[in-house]
Amino acid sequence: MSKGLALITGGAGFIGSHTATELLLAGYAVRVLDNLSTPVHDGTGKWPEWLSRDVERMSGDVRHREDWRKALRGVDVVFHLAAYQDLLPNFSQFFHVNSVGTALLYEVIVAEKLPVRKVVVASSQFVYGEGRYKCAKDGEVFPDGRDPQRLAKGLWDPICPKCGGAITPLPLLETHANPKNQYSIAKYSQELMAIALGKNYGIPSVAMRYSIVQGPHQSFRNAYSGALRIFTLQLMKGRAATVFEDGTQLRDYVNVSDVARANLLVLDKDEANFQVFNVGGGRGYTVLEFAQIVADALGARVQPDVTGEYRVGDTRHSVSDISKLQKLGWQPTKTPLESVREYVEWIRQQKLDRDYAAEALARLRKMGALRKAS
Ligand SMILES: NC(=O)c1ccc[n+]([C@@H]2O[C@H](COP(=O)([O-])OP(=O)(O)OC[C@H]3O[C@@H](n4cnc5c(N)ncnc54)[C@H](O)[C@@H]3O)[C@@H](O)[C@H]2O)c1
Repeated sequence: MSKGLALITGGAGFIGSHTATELLLAGYAVRVLDNLSTPVHDGTGKWPEWLSRDVERMSGDVRHREDWRKALRGVDVVFHLAAYQDLLPNFSQFFHVNSVGTALLYEVIVAEKLPVRKVVVASSQFVYGEGRYKCAKDGEVFPDGRDPQRLAKGLWDPICPKCGGAITPLPLLETHANPKNQYSIAKYSQELMAIALGKNYGIPSVAMRYSIVQGPHQSFRNAYSGALRIFTLQLMKGRAATVFEDGTQLRDYVNVSDVARANLLVLDKDEANFQVFNVGGGRGYTVLEFAQIVADALGARVQPDVTGEYRVGDTRHSVSDISKLQKLGWQPTKTPLESVREYVEWIRQQKLDRDYAAEALARLRKMGALRKAS
């Protein structure tokens, strides 16, 4: 017997397609609402071959009320994953898709008194901004981003906002947020809506702050999708992996199947309602360590190219504390090497008709989103 109907917005994408598979396995019927937008998709309007044939496919846009009305018909649970994610300066689009889309979701549920029993909204580790640090003199501190003048000189580490001294990174806790760019501000607005509107109108809602998610189906076309894609594409062409800053910045990586399991876990747990959860890999790796993992997975021997460039608005260290989700019964099970191997196996079967890595870097440089320290 079906456990009910699950709607996944953005379900043709990376995390959505894996969440769909997990939901089908758990006994849900699955409907996907997606506008197959570029650059994530190829622009042909065709549904990706990786999306299970057992899902109901609905073309539509989360910015359109009528599309939400149709998509929400008969739905028991919603995974709201559709999002605009890039680094481009078309600021309003982040809010139209991510913020207005989420507001419309709640608006339609309330207006039509829909019996939705859970909404899970995708947020991001990006909402932390520069995050949490420890100062020997001042204890726990939250630097408000990095000083552009220090970055221009190649002084990468943030300093204590109180005494100006050296600080060391601490794991990020869900109690904090300080979003600093168009994407993370819009993502944070989605969290706030999910928790506040959910509570006000009795719609159990959960916000998931994913760290860097990795595995098959991750779009190789958009500039946003990060180090794994760029390093893999570069190394596959025999070029060096381009590493920004000095390569010692810390990140945490989580496998997409672990993320899909986390999404399903919070469905069944009432204690998760109106809560925010980090979904991460549980430990940090430097970008140089990560570049080595990608090189190992590909059997490549080219040394990384540490360019001394930096992304405007980027954070120095981001490693999430995952103990809150662990207490609910979740564990990340796959290492970054396993994730990278899965991705490499998948991308080798894809038709790479252009030099996506070179194009993405050229675009970032042209936009001024990448700068070089002197
Ligand atoms: N991948 C990560 O590492 C990561 C990290 C943190 C947060 N997230 C969040 O998780 C969610 C899923 O990310 P992903 O990596 O699977 O992204 P993705 O780009 O692979 O998938 C997003 C899907 O949303 C669809 N979409 C975009 N705009 C839409 C619109 N207006 N209407 C309907 N559909 C639309 C796209 O066509 C795409 O299929 C997003 O909300 C993202 O912000 C992802």
